[in-house]
Amino acid sequence: MSALQENPFTGPLAAEYDVLRLMCPNAATLAKKIGERVAEWRSEAGPIDGFEIGCGTGISTLAALSARGDLKLTAIDSAGEMLDQARTNLADYALAGRVKFIDADALTALRALPDAGMDVVISNYAVHNFPDGYRKSVVCEIFRVLKPGGIFVNGDRYAMDDPAAHLADTQAVVRDWFKIFTKMNRLDLLEDWIVHLLSDESPQHIMYFEPALEQLRAAGFAPVAVEFRDGVDTLVTATKPGA
Ligand SMILES: C[S@@+](CC[C@H](N)C(=O)[O-])C[C@H]1O[C@@H](n2cnc3c(N)ncnc32)[C@H](O)[C@@H]1O
Repeated sequence: MSALQENPFTGPLAAEYDVLRLMCPNAATLAKKIGERVAEWRSEAGPIDGFEIGCGTGISTLAALSARGDLKLTAIDSAGEMLDQARTNLADYALAGRVKFIDADALTALRALPDAGMDVVISNYAVHNFPDGYRKSVVCEIFRVLKPGGIFVNGDRYAMDDPAAHLADTQAVVRDWFKIFTKMNRLDLLEDWIVHLLSDESPQHIMYFEPALEQLRAAGFAPVAVEFRDGVDTLVTATKPGA
């Protein structure tokens, strides 16, 4: 697999994923907002089926499951070390039949789903990891697997369209990371996160804000709404028309 396609969430990034809480407090904020958004989506509809892309250790999975008691979720991730933690962290939910974890590549898993079977698709900080061509295919598949009226809720890093503003934001983030990891005496872990950031920021991966919203509209979603934005950290909802 080329460096452009590699999933970075192996080794130290997976084993010590918890540090993200310090590096990016908005990741937890957006997980909570995803839960709230799923809870308010057709709250009277009765039991709903959801699909999560890149569930990681289960932070966003837990937010969604705890916010909506009648949600049943299929949560996939292609990093076994992340998924193992999710299985442990959410063992009670799995036992209760509320969540099924699957070790799978996002696009492959989506392609295996039937048309129009899901009420909601959620994701938190996974889609920006994808190369753009792959992301475009994923977005089209999300549209296909949603029921008419279904919703895609994505919390993620959407790069600023103004390159100077985005660079300044990224530089500020990196300076902040140096402070955090120096205090922890963990420059080894910082090295892995910076290598990962370089992948996210590469021309093949970087998910610019307006083009990403346009990618959703081009797939057929309407409306596409921005419900929260703080720096690059953004909550986007995209509805499949109909119903
Ligand atoms: C930053 S983590 C986010 C995890 C979790 N959603 C959260 O809120 O903490 C991104 C996750 O996406 C997963 N991922 C990245 N590329 C993937 C792909 N192509 N297919 C499936 N999962 C992928 C990674 O393994 C990782 O667990």
